[in-house]
Amino acid sequence: MSTSPLVVAMDGPSGTGKSSVSRMLAQRLDARYLDTGAMYRIATLHALRKGVDLTDPAAIADATAGLPWSIGTDPAGEQVLLDGEDVGEEIRGDAVTKAVSAVSAVPAVRELLVAAQRRLAGEAERIVVEGRDIGTVVIPDADVKIYLTASAEARAQRRNAQNLAEGRGDDYAAVLADVQRRDHLDSTRAVSPLRPADDSVLVDTSELGIDDVIGRLLLVVSERRGAG
Ligand code: DC
Repeated sequence: MSTSPLVVAMDGPSGTGKSSVSRMLAQRLDARYLDTGAMYRIATLHALRKGVDLTDPAAIADATAGLPWSIGTDPAGEQVLLDGEDVGEEIRGDAVTKAVSAVSAVPAVRELLVAAQRRLAGEAERIVVEGRDIGTVVIPDADVKIYLTASAEARAQRRNAQNLAEGRGDDYAAVLADVQRRDHLDSTRAVSPLRPADDSVLVDTSELGIDDVIGRLLLVVSERRGAG
């Protein structure tokens, strides 16, 4: 694989294996990796810690204006700091996961984070940028755009298996309902709704293991690059 400049936009809903796949793809491509979902999660944790009313978009916007955060782009490990503190684990907790849709729907928050995402992507020679609106809004001129999908059932099964493995119980019906609720919120919100870019390559991971997905994506990247 060549080492010429490369920007890969990876979009899609959660539960498609998008984060693991993006990280591994970045490593295989000798590229950096940016997790934009983690940025919305940091903003959400900050708003929660400040006790902001999550039904008040203006208060959320205010709280996140001077966000004291940083995020690394090393695909080998996540480095997310809030006020100098490593919050890598806390941003994956239930409190943040429940509140993040409200925070990421606020236009001022998106403006702030999209500007930071463009800056971080611009600093890297080669990068895989993962999120929901990378190919449509953040980097519409990305060299390669991929949209990972999977059926709601396949995504709920994966999440439920993960919950079980991490000792958080077994409730497939509740997990499926939550997946469908989040899909609906993400795809119907007014600002940057979740949808594939017209020129993205759709990859359905419902029936594929991670190695198959990576193999397919490496092929897509080399084909797209070959096509100029
Ligand atoms: O990928 P994730 O679950 O960590 O994302 C957390 C939330 O952030 C999710 O509700 C969707 C939102 N998000 C977004 O609106 N835009 C992005 N580019 C990335 C994530």
